[in-house]
Amino acid sequence: MSCEALLTAAAQGLFPLEFDLNTARANPKSLVMSVRAYKIRPAQPADLAELVALEQQCWLKPLQASAETIQRRLQVNPTGQLVVVLDDAVVGVIYSQRINDVDGLSHHTMASVEALHQDNGAIVQLLAVNIKPDSQQRGLGDELLEFMLQYVGLMGVNSVVAVSLVKAGIKPSAMTLTDYLQYKDDRGFLIDPILRFHQAHGASLAGVITDYRLTVNNEQRAGIIIHYDLLKTPSSAC
Ligand SMILES: CC(C)(COP(=O)(O)OP(=O)(O)OC[C@H]1O[C@@H](n2cnc3c(N)ncnc32)[C@H](O)[C@@H]1OP(=O)(O)O)[C@@H](O)C(=O)NCCC(=O)NCCS
Repeated sequence: MSCEALLTAAAQGLFPLEFDLNTARANPKSLVMSVRAYKIRPAQPADLAELVALEQQCWLKPLQASAETIQRRLQVNPTGQLVVVLDDAVVGVIYSQRINDVDGLSHHTMASVEALHQDNGAIVQLLAVNIKPDSQQRGLGDELLEFMLQYVGLMGVNSVVAVSLVKAGIKPSAMTLTDYLQYKDDRGFLIDPILRFHQAHGASLAGVITDYRLTVNNEQRAGIIIHYDLLKTPSSAC
């Protein structure tokens, strides 16, 4: 199945029952589709007000993307911005851009990183995933992220990155960030819920950008570089 056909199916609420990228690329007709309660489609300019509201519901003010930034993402890379729709309402979004190399990320902050976008960049950078608070913890974030990984994999992309923050208020203040990034539960999952969200989809930790994000108190917060190798089987890789 082509990435376009996958997206057309998702816009009708049809998703692969199982997905293995190598198999799907080698044998595009092998995908068996099943119906889900939600739909995924590219974000459109008409969604802007809902996307701005989602930003305000999901992030503290200094971390929110502005309406102008969201609008630019939709113009510059329209198929890289996907929304999840439940009962005809947009309840989540995943934003992305294309970049040429991972090393360039370390010279940027959250405010400047979108300058790296290149239409034909070989690597997809996930910029944010937002699920409306009253729709969280129902698997939608997981499924939106998983769909994006399948979709870009079928586009021919092998490598996906994100620069994530750690969730505020969880790291013990006496613990260094380096130690916190190794801190796992007895199942081998990272303690940090945002990093665990990526880990559950097969991502590895690939570095730290010390001054990536600005928080409420004008304090710089590190960005954690997350890497997905789409040709490796998704599992708890961090
Ligand atoms: C992170 C987020 C997208 C998850 O979406 P969701 O639909 O609630 O998540 P799901 O139900 O699919 O999956 C749950 C997993 O997401 C993560 N998660 C859930 N709520 C979270 C939260 N408030 N903050 C961070 N991570 C969260 C956890 O890893 C969780 O796994 P667990 O149940 O094993 O702890 C959503 O909570 C959100 O929009 N948070 C605010 C924005 C944000 O922090 N985005 C982070 C990535 S850029």
